[in-house]
Amino acid sequence: MSEAIFRLRNLRKEYQQRVVLDISHLDIYRGEILVVVGPNGSGKSTLLRLLNFLEPATSGEIEFMGHSILPGTPVSLHLRRQVTMVFQQPALLNRSVLTNVAYGRKVRGMPAQNGAMTRLLDRLGLAALAGNHAPTLSGGERQRVALARALAFQPAVLLLDEPTANLDPYNVSLIEGLIRDLNREQGTTIVLVTHNVFQARRLGHRVAFLLNGQVVEIAPAEQFFSAPQDARTRAFLNGELVW
Ligand SMILES: Nc1ncnc2c1ncn2[C@@H]1O[C@H](COP(=O)(O)OP(=O)(O)OP(=O)(O)O)[C@@H](O)[C@H]1O
Ligand SMILES: [Mg+2]
Repeated sequence: MSEAIFRLRNLRKEYQQRVVLDISHLDIYRGEILVVVGPNGSGKSTLLRLLNFLEPATSGEIEFMGHSILPGTPVSLHLRRQVTMVFQQPALLNRSVLTNVAYGRKVRGMPAQNGAMTRLLDRLGLAALAGNHAPTLSGGERQRVALARALAFQPAVLLLDEPTANLDPYNVSLIEGLIRDLNREQGTTIVLVTHNVFQARRLGHRVAFLLNGQVVEIAPAEQFFSAPQDARTRAFLNGELVW
């Protein structure tokens, strides 16, 4: 699991001259589940947006699948399509659940695979809602539809921004099981942001602690939780205010 699918070097993102992300060096391994934790505003979603090539960095380099991407370099459609993100507040089409899930494949010119879509909805506990109008769904149902839509692409990298934030305990364990299976069976590389440290421990192969846009600590999950090296990581895990 040591081959890097992403290599980040001296990656900085500024908004109005304020540095919100400043990562000197980070490798994300092919086939790993990397969990990112950190306080509100520490740059977690910004990191995912850069990994998804939604926004350019202010400076620095992202190497993805062997291709060097610098700010201002256009990223090919082929590369962008290897990565799919599920947002913190996903936007859905004003259509049925099934249409939403099938939509991404359609715009990408991929075959519809109706049977696979139905199985996917079934796995996410959404089968009974397939014909429902997406805007009428609850927050947790919407989040699961967004995840189904992302999985329908079969991306090489899945970026998940607090994917279980709105879910009840049953659906949390359903989604966690799905993430684990997807990683194991298809080798999907997963970068998952969560505020739930128990979830980080359950799912992460490695865990990174982001603070003020910097990676304070990154370690195998077991080590991260049992023997955190940095005092700020320990404070964060103890529920103290860290800055
Ligand atoms: N488009 C933008 N313009 C200006 N500032 C931004 C923009 N996007 C993010 N920021 C700022 O960058 C910082 C990092 O934001 P980000 O959304 O990455 O945090 P986060 O770690 O995901 O927080 P949370 O846990 O609350 O989701 C915040 O201070 C935020 O206000
Ligand atoms: Mg966020």
